Amino acid sequence: MNILLTGGTGYIGSHTAVVLAEAGHRPVLLDNLSNSSADVVDRLAQITGTRFPFIEGDIRDTALLRRVLADEGIGAVVHFAGLKAVGESVEQPLRYYDNNVGGTISLLQAMDETGVGTLVFSSSATVYGQPAYLPLDEVHPTGATNPYGRTKLHIEEMLAELAASGTNWRIACLRYFNPVGAHASGLIGEDPNGIPNNLMPYIARVAGGRLPFLNVFGDDYPTPDGTGVRDYIHVMDLAEGHRAALDFLAGSAGAGWHAFNLGTGCGYSVLDMVRAFEQASGRPVPYRIAPRRPGDVAACYAKADKAADQLAWRALRSLDDMCASTWHFQQRTAR
Ligand code: NAD
Ligand code: WQD
Repeated sequence: MNILLTGGTGYIGSHTAVVLAEAGHRPVLLDNLSNSSADVVDRLAQITGTRFPFIEGDIRDTALLRRVLADEGIGAVVHFAGLKAVGESVEQPLRYYDNNVGGTISLLQAMDETGVGTLVFSSSATVYGQPAYLPLDEVHPTGATNPYGRTKLHIEEMLAELAASGTNWRIACLRYFNPVGAHASGLIGEDPNGIPNNLMPYIARVAGGRLPFLNVFGDDYPTPDGTGVRDYIHVMDLAEGHRAALDFLAGSAGAGWHAFNLGTGCGYSVLDMVRAFEQASGRPVPYRIAPRRPGDVAACYAKADKAADQLAWRALRSLDDMCASTWHFQQRTAR
């Protein structure tokens, strides 16, 4: 099937393109390059032996989307495009609503007008807000603690109402936990601009000597070692979750709206991550305890049974693989 990947040159989109191509699909990438580079298209060609069609464009350009959906004979869309920095969303909420919510409305209009009804949406565990209980299952109440999270929640709700309005829609919201790691080639991975906000890219730069030490945000949480606990998932496992979701949507149970957690179900602390990265890289990761980061929760991890039961998907890769592949990418390709 021809599958449109909005945000296809980004971190998760590029890994998913590899997996979809391996499964016999034809990925078509669309990205405005606001947080990625067109070099990724070359690297994907190096990995897969196939040059995927790439359209540089914005999801808010409905006419462009209509054209791409029709001209490329698109059968399904995987919608990654969006802005994702929590702190930035607090400072620039309108930009986040315009890009994420406005962009999704534009995409949905183009899909509606061209009769493409199958959509996999990049959602986030952030839609659960403050955890009321752990592990988080899909019926946990939803909420938002920042504008970024609220864009994801609004989009999910919009998609549910859209799916209820007609019979053509087959929509899966995939609620990612904490994606980390890189493709085994070391040619694609996560390489944020500036100082990383997220733990794994920050640790990778400390291990590589590009940052002097890690600030550990709080060591007095009610967790086994006092540092924050998260459900880190290898980006290749996550990518395979998209293939599984597309298969599910194509089947008899796929009509309507669905939400799935994509996580491992295991929680690791910040210090667990530091030790695992030191082991995988053979480099020290010096750290200092710093104050808690505002808005952080003590622990967040998934119950991943629904995806196992309905998508026949499970995360398989280890913490060591997450760290080793990040390190490989950091050394081979990261700027
Ligand atoms: P990313 O920034 O690497 O990829 C997103 C891509 O979308 C970028 O290449 C960017 O240039 C593109 N983009 C942004 N706005 C666009 C627009 N208006 N038109 C066209 N392209 C646009 O981020 P990622 O980590 O690959 O995340 C992909 C999706 O998954 C995002 O929607 C993000 O919110 C969601 N998500 C990410 C995480 C995470 O921790 N990485 C966790 C949960 C959910
Ligand atoms: C993980 C742990 C930090 C950096 C964020 C978004 C979420 C989702 C994924 C998109 C926490 C600690 C971090 C550092 C640290 N994105 N930490 N020092 O906050 O779980 O989730 O990314 O949907 O919406 O909020 O991920 O990687 O930032 O933090 O001690 O320099 O590492 O306090 O415990 P988080 P993270």
